[in-house]
Parts: sequence; C-alpha cells; structure tokens
Amino acid sequence: MGEFTVENVWVKNILRGVTLNVEGGVTSIAGPNGSGKTTLLRVMAGLVKPDKGSVKRPRKIGSSWQNPYFSFTKPTVLEELSETVGGERGALEMLRSMDLENIAGKSPFTLSMGQARLISIILAVAWKPEAVILDEPTNGLSCEWKARVWELLRSMKTTIVIASHDVEFALAISDRIVVLNEGTIVGEGGPKDVIKDLRTLGLQEPEAW
Ligand SMILES: Nc1ncnc2c1ncn2[C@@H]1O[C@H](COP(=O)(O)OP(=O)(O)OP(=O)(O)O)[C@@H](O)[C@H]1O
Ligand SMILES: [Mg+2]
Repeated sequence: MGEFTVENVWVKNILRGVTLNVEGGVTSIAGPNGSGKTTLLRVMAGLVKPDKGSVKRPRKIGSSWQNPYFSFTKPTVLEELSETVGGERGALEMLRSMDLENIAGKSPFTLSMGQARLISIILAVAWKPEAVILDEPTNGLSCEWKARVWELLRSMKTTIVIASHDVEFALAISDRIVVLNEGTIVGEGGPKDVIKDLRTLGLQEPEAW
C-alpha cells in the first residue's frame, strides 16, 4: 500500500508547514480556491520541490491533473490506453467496461472536458500504481459519470489522494478529509467530523446530505 509522509512542508507562502501522513483508503484535500490544494498534490507527486520540509512518496504514482489534457501524448485514446495497460486488447476491454469504446479512435485532444477527465482518470489508475493522485476529478462530469468514477475509485485497493471543490463528492467518497486554508491544515477527520470546518470556510455541503 502506497504511503506518503509529508513533514513540515513549506512552498513560498502557498504551503506553510503542512504535515500529513496518508496510507491506504481515499483521502480528500478540501479548501477554498487558492488554498494550496493543487500545490500540495504537486508536492506529493514530486513535481514541486518544497523550500523546506520533506516528503516520502511511493515509487509508482498515477496522477490526473486539473487540466486533464496534460495526461495525453498519443494520437488516439486507444493508443494512450494501450501503452498504459500494456496492450490493445486490455485497453479495448477497459473502454468497453466504461461504455467508452465509441471514443477509442478519437484524438484525446479533441475530447470534451468531461471525456478528457474520464480518460485521464482511467490512465492514472490503469497501470496499477501504488498510489493515485487526482486533482479535481469531478470537474466537468455529469452526475452519472461522477457515480461511475466513485465506483471505479472505491473498487481500488491503492492509496488515493484527491483535491476537490466538490464537497458532495468528497464527503461521499472519502475515508478521511483534510481541510486546507491559506496553506495550512485547519481540520482533519472523517467526512462527518469536518462538516463544521467546511461550513466555517463557506464550503457548504449540499442540502440533501
Ligand atoms: N508556481 C507558482 N508560483 C506562484 N504562485 C503560485 C504558483 N502556483 C500557485 N500559486 C498560487 O498559490 C496559491 C495556491 O494555488 P493552488 O493552485 O495550489 O490552490 P488550489 O487550492 O488548488 O486552488 P483552486 O481551488 O483554484 O484549484 C494561489 O494563490 C496561486 O495563485
Ligand atoms: Mg487546484
């Protein structure tokens, strides 16, 4: 099981002494716009070097970023997936299982934001990483597709770390939620434990919750 150990990490004035251990399950980083969620994920993925502090991370990490088109390098969706899962057959099976075989031949760069998001999430999980990092995985997705992403992620045994504005999704999918504000962790716990912290920051859970 992939383990992240983030110790007293500082990045400019964006992250100010963040300490966090994640091993197993689904952890969401919640917080207002500009609170440092993406920067924290980039530090955890090894894409940003902290000015101060240390990070230990698993070797094999799958990731999907706020701009999902960053995940793509190949002329077709099928080629993207074939490389990741190690063969066209497996790639086609995976697309079929998600009802996405109709976009197999398309250039990933011509996909809608929602489709691109889905493919980037599938690419992140498909190569059997020890941990998965997902930045805003529900942006641009319909309710139906959010539910399917929920199923896909919950069926995985790896460590999953998500940054999300989508409070409803974060509450529904997470074992643990870390609340970030102005680069500092201000709350942490199970979904029900952090509802008050989220409300204090103006991040309301939906009425139906
Ligand atoms: N490379 C950088 N250099 C300087 N400032 C940056 C850099 N990257 C991000 N920032 C700033 O740091 C702050 C935190 O950004 P970050 O993208 O981590 O927040 P976020 O919580 O993911 O925001 P959002 O909810 O909009 O996705 C923002 O004010 C942003 O403008
Ligand atoms: Mg962000």
